[in-house]
Amino acid sequence: MKTEIIKINSRNPEVYKIREAANIIINGGLVAFPTETVYGLGANVFNKNAVKKIFIAKGRPQDNPLIVHVSEMKQINSLVSEIPYNAKKLMKKFWPGPLTIIIKKSKLVPDIVTCGLDSVAIRMPKNKIALKLIEQSKCPIAAPSANLSGKPSPTTAEHVIDDLNGKIDKIIDGGKVNIGLESTIIDLTQNPPIILRPGKITHKQIEKIIGKVQKNKKEFIKKPKSPGMKYKHYSPNAKVIIVKKENEIKEVYKKYSDKKIKQLKYGSEIEMAKNLFKDFRDADKKCYEIIVVEEVEDKEFGCAIMDRLRKAK
Ligand code: TXA
Ligand code: MG
Repeated sequence: MKTEIIKINSRNPEVYKIREAANIIINGGLVAFPTETVYGLGANVFNKNAVKKIFIAKGRPQDNPLIVHVSEMKQINSLVSEIPYNAKKLMKKFWPGPLTIIIKKSKLVPDIVTCGLDSVAIRMPKNKIALKLIEQSKCPIAAPSANLSGKPSPTTAEHVIDDLNGKIDKIIDGGKVNIGLESTIIDLTQNPPIILRPGKITHKQIEKIIGKVQKNKKEFIKKPKSPGMKYKHYSPNAKVIIVKKENEIKEVYKKYSDKKIKQLKYGSEIEMAKNLFKDFRDADKKCYEIIVVEEVEDKEFGCAIMDRLRKAK
């Protein structure tokens, strides 16, 4: 399959280009598009065949459900039979934005999207290209991250091209994403609700709106609630060493003096989140044997960064 790659202005998306991409979604094809977190690989949520193609293109396990992206509140009515009060409050506060909310699904959502679960994960992304694409497609868009299964989530169109060129209909190049880590996922079907994946929207910010929320510690979960959590996450070919203090880095260089070492260094958590997945991919391309990186405080947005770092080890 020939994959068409098209640049779209993320500040002011060209309408005709968005329409062309939306037509692909309407006709049951796959389009990769930027969101504020990472790039997504989208299909019409109600078209089972199209959704199936997502799993095939990514090599994604059949029991790992997808997030459904909406551009307006009206679209949620087709996905759920009832919007719980806490969901409404979170949507009002954080949407559009990097928060995915899991609630009980309606019968209209095909099983292939939720992998047979009775809940559905929904979010409204804060990215003009994504929002216009959903709007023009006239349907919610099911979209996992647009990487091959087992690779880090893509934060530029080049990453998507590296992984999916020739396997999907179109890749929209809307430049580098804003956040760089996947959305926070909160499961509202649990009481108290549980954060299944930490992200830019923090535990503290969520508790301010809906009260007590559990962090995803093993003791709170009887069975894996986010099926994606049971899969091996991406770890670069290089061994990832997380150090507590900067002076420990010297010791790593001493200990592994015969190895090709890449030190990752960032000025802030925001910058680290934005570049981490790109730096993992780059390190692999350049055949580094060791990646050394200083930890950040496991607090607020730092939780999301440490979560991805630990999974990369
Ligand atoms: O930022 C993001 O969330 C990006 C962009 C594209 O929106 N998407 C993303 O999707 O990271 P994905 O498929 O890579 O991760 C979705 C996670 C998976 O771990 C999946 O298991 C979980 O969400 N998930 C989806 N539906 C679920 C459900 N009904 N119950 C529990 N977990 C669910
Ligand atoms: Mg993913």
